Amino acid sequence: MSTDFELEKRLAAEAAAALLADGMTVGLGTGSTAGYFLAALAARELELVCVATSPATEAEARKLGLRLEPFDSTDKLARLDIAVDGADQVAGDGWIVKGGGGAHTREKIVAAAAERFVVIVSSDKVVDEIGPPIPLELHAFGLAATLERLGDARIRSAPATPDEGVLADWLGPVDDPAELAGRLDTTPGVVEHGLFAPELVSEILVGRGDEVERIEPG
Ligand code: A5P
Repeated sequence: MSTDFELEKRLAAEAAAALLADGMTVGLGTGSTAGYFLAALAARELELVCVATSPATEAEARKLGLRLEPFDSTDKLARLDIAVDGADQVAGDGWIVKGGGGAHTREKIVAAAAERFVVIVSSDKVVDEIGPPIPLELHAFGLAATLERLGDARIRSAPATPDEGVLADWLGPVDDPAELAGRLDTTPGVVEHGLFAPELVSEILVGRGDEVERIEPG
């Protein structure tokens, strides 16, 4: 019998939506699993203030009647109570990879601003070890020089990000995610990469069959 990954995504999303309460400020992730979360959240009809990690999520959240605030002013919303998002890869040690949809820069900013960052995935996202591709957002300025410095990276055939970044993927080995994350963090021209460290992740909710498993990194 084949696994119903869509059901697993929905169950993980519903478990995350159950964590929210009236009055919370919420970061809304991007992608199909985050889409299930938006629907489950809207169905709860809570009093929330939300920020979106992409124009697509913003449009969907508005359609569902969720209250959105911009995340680009200096006088409010410096911290969020919770952020909920999907992932492309989840390892047992808490390292995750995001950005298959190209929204990882905003997703990481929102995750880092949240007291609690909850990752929701179907069971096919769980891996023994993190591997390529690792999504990158690069500055357009000096692109050839940045690619040269990176070596094992390839531009993705995708539109520019909302922040005018160029999407690419690291295709080299990922022997040590912490080492690679450190290297990418300090490469000029790399705006952001899709490696999220365990310190950023409060919990991972994995839909598996008709149940939801909870992994607490670290
Ligand atoms: C968007 O840039 C990504 O980080 C997504 O959150 C991630 O790729 C998971 O997407 P799905 O839920 O669609 O698999």
